[in-house]
Amino acid sequence: MPTDHVREPTGPRERVLDHGATAVAHPNIALIKYWGKRDERLVVPYVDSLSMTLDVFPTTTTVRLDPGAAADSVLLDGASAGGEPRQRVVDFLDLVRELAGRTERAAVDTRNAVPTGAGLASSASGFAALAVAAAAAYGLRLDDTALSRLARRGSASAARSIFGGFALCHAGQGVGAAADRSSYAEPVPVPDFDPALVIALVNAGPKAVSSRAAMRRTVETSPLYQAWAASNKDDLAEMRAALHRGDLDAVGEIAERNALGMHATMLAARPAVRYLSPATVAVLDGVLQLRRDGTPAYATMDAGPNVKVLCHPADADRVAATLLAAAPGSSVLTARRGPGARLRTGDEP
Ligand code: PMV
Repeated sequence: MPTDHVREPTGPRERVLDHGATAVAHPNIALIKYWGKRDERLVVPYVDSLSMTLDVFPTTTTVRLDPGAAADSVLLDGASAGGEPRQRVVDFLDLVRELAGRTERAAVDTRNAVPTGAGLASSASGFAALAVAAAAAYGLRLDDTALSRLARRGSASAARSIFGGFALCHAGQGVGAAADRSSYAEPVPVPDFDPALVIALVNAGPKAVSSRAAMRRTVETSPLYQAWAASNKDDLAEMRAALHRGDLDAVGEIAERNALGMHATMLAARPAVRYLSPATVAVLDGVLQLRRDGTPAYATMDAGPNVKVLCHPADADRVAATLLAAAPGSSVLTARRGPGARLRTGDEP
């Protein structure tokens, strides 16, 4: 049965606040991964993907227009951002300004409750929150599909964080404007499936290779990439059926093989991209042990060493304890499905 906290709020996304706009978005974890962009400028993925938005690690972003300013200012977790992180935000604001026909610069203040760049989907929550806040601040009235397409331009996984629960992101068809129009996420309603996702944080530090650089190298050099991309289609079809059945074992098996396959494509890149560390492998061993002992638990990993383990909520404490014992020094946290991105109203803290 769905419980209260799985209800997906449909907040007022179009409300423009007097002093800018503040939006909150949560990260999502893909059960069917996207890896590789067929258009880097427009951020269009090669493959469809399907994810679960989490109820932990939100990003809160405020965008205030600053008509007197000559340049945008970007605060990331309280510190002035520079280099690539700032440039990605400025490029995104340029896109929003172009869509809105506006020229004012903005002050952006973004706070992550998740370590940035550690493969914990901070770019997903970050660009989903920025899309919702910037669209409101610049007076753009976008529906959820348009917001998802906009968030995608920041980071393809962010397209999915516009939605709560489970979301499917279309790789889209055609090239150029046609690809841009047809690549967006949409919700996959699965009201009766509410698994737990135990996150084993084996290393919260930033990754050595950005996902952007890693996926480019994988697409260009890995002989396994095309095979994985083809198998992704079958995985997605099977995943949708498994989700609708509420079949945790099938969902978990498909998610685990899909993630391991994605990492295999990276290991075969030249030179290899390896995000998985000894602690990751120890956690994967813990997951196998859980299954041998009769507890359904299935792993997925993104562009980092941390492991997310899908299980029944009633088993989450046992799973967490096993993962901690497998990788001493790590920390664990249990997530459930969470809400979509939304504007925060003035009376919220
Ligand atoms: O969010 P990006 O564009 O940095 O790419 C990350 C992609 C994965 O997290 C590895 C997979 C996915 O579909 O989220």
